[in-house]
Amino acid sequence: MSSPLGKYTSIVVFGASGDLAKKKTFPALFGLYREGQLPATVKIIGYARSKLSDEEFKKRISEHFKLRNKDADASKVEEFLKLCSYHQGAYDTKEGYEELAKIIGEYEKENNVEQPSRLFYLALPPSTFTEVADKLKENVYADGGLTRIIVEKPFGHDLESSRELQKNLAPLWTEEELYRIDHYLGKEMVKNLLVLRFGNELLSGVWNKNHIKSVQISFKEAFGTEGRGGYFDTIGIVRDVMQNHLLQVLTLLTMERPVSFDPEAIRDEKVKVLKAFEPLDSDDLLLGQYTKSEDGSKPGYLDDSTVKPDSQQVTYAALGLKISNERWDGVPFVMRAGKALDESKVEIRIQFKPVAKGMFEEIQRNELVIRVQPDEAIYMKINSKIPGISTETSLTDLDLSYATRYSKDFWIPEAYEALIRDCFLGNHSNFVRDDELDVSWKLFTPLLNFIESDKAPKPEGYAYGSKGPKGLRPFLNKHGYVFSDEGTYQWPLTTPSVKGKI
Ligand code: BG6
Repeated sequence: MSSPLGKYTSIVVFGASGDLAKKKTFPALFGLYREGQLPATVKIIGYARSKLSDEEFKKRISEHFKLRNKDADASKVEEFLKLCSYHQGAYDTKEGYEELAKIIGEYEKENNVEQPSRLFYLALPPSTFTEVADKLKENVYADGGLTRIIVEKPFGHDLESSRELQKNLAPLWTEEELYRIDHYLGKEMVKNLLVLRFGNELLSGVWNKNHIKSVQISFKEAFGTEGRGGYFDTIGIVRDVMQNHLLQVLTLLTMERPVSFDPEAIRDEKVKVLKAFEPLDSDDLLLGQYTKSEDGSKPGYLDDSTVKPDSQQVTYAALGLKISNERWDGVPFVMRAGKALDESKVEIRIQFKPVAKGMFEEIQRNELVIRVQPDEAIYMKINSKIPGISTETSLTDLDLSYATRYSKDFWIPEAYEALIRDCFLGNHSNFVRDDELDVSWKLFTPLLNFIESDKAPKPEGYAYGSKGPKGLRPFLNKHGYVFSDEGTYQWPLTTPSVKGKI
């Protein structure tokens, strides 16, 4: 780990008038301040091209602040906003950066800072990364101190553009200084994966092809691309969440045990397992695009005027993956992601092999479900005898629901809060390393090229608000997933369901 940033750190958020800064970056900085995780002596500067007064800026960013304790936190908003100011400037000329350097210099001088400590957060479109990174290095770099720069996905559009971006950034900023955010790595349950896997012999011992039948990662959103259609049309669901967020989750689920929690030890193992993924098979793919909701009240993807009228862009995809190594050989992995579905939910399902026949006429499989959001939970479907004189078994669960297990006052940081704090502390574990990025693009680029070519199948339509394309169930069956529920298993359980016989 590198050293933490100092008490007198200047934090500059570029793209401060944009949506990401408003909805995520500033609320996360406030959340950290609210929890006493950000020194009250830092200086926060919002930088953007828009003309905004300090007051307008503060009003804008505080719209999304979350108060955990209404009365106590209201005064914290005031205190926090006193640390913030807005600076209007261009991204492509050096004047704005020179002014920034002057403001920061004065603040450091006032506080007798010997080793400057500066954090730049680029909440900007990637087309501006190189230019801003270049100007920052030239004009505002903390010589003799600590400088960190946070960049947001997308890190390129494919392997070639990602390498180009890397090539431009690398001479300016070292890997040590660069923090690439994939906000899924900041989610509580994703951060828990290594502890769950490696801190429990019960799980660690069965985490392999001998016991696991299939693994699924599922991402569902109950809303469409409303308001972002034009952007999404050039991206698609695979690039938007699979190549990054879901692949990160899959990597943590499948990597070998790192020698320690040291960031490089973790990232080394992630890269190793990524290299063991087999090339993605364009036949092992299910593509969908949402249409109007069944009652006609919600628009179809193509109804968005910012989307190309005949667009074939995919808003739903399910994808089979394989890992050729000793641990995972032969285990099917499925990633599925979709917009405009029946619910918003992200979860991991690990289904175990069936037990040997003989004793039981009929018995269900164990399944471990890790719910990332909403309402973090881990539950394991297990077979148990129905209490009393019955000779039947039922599928029930061992349930760790965070909402009932941990008190309401427990602070679970939002993903961005956790990650900005990590960056402040100099911990790279939950950020994407350059070689990791390269392997992930290497894996996905051929598939993306196929999906965007004439050879790709036309995406299957599914109604807004539905469960997704009809082909999903057979697709999951093909990948070794057995539905135990027949519609009767529900979690949390209220009555015994899915019976078996002894
Ligand atoms: C973003 C994608 O990276 O992640 C969005 O661009 C998606 O399309 C979002 O909605 C999901 O993040 P979360 O934290 O809401 O699950």
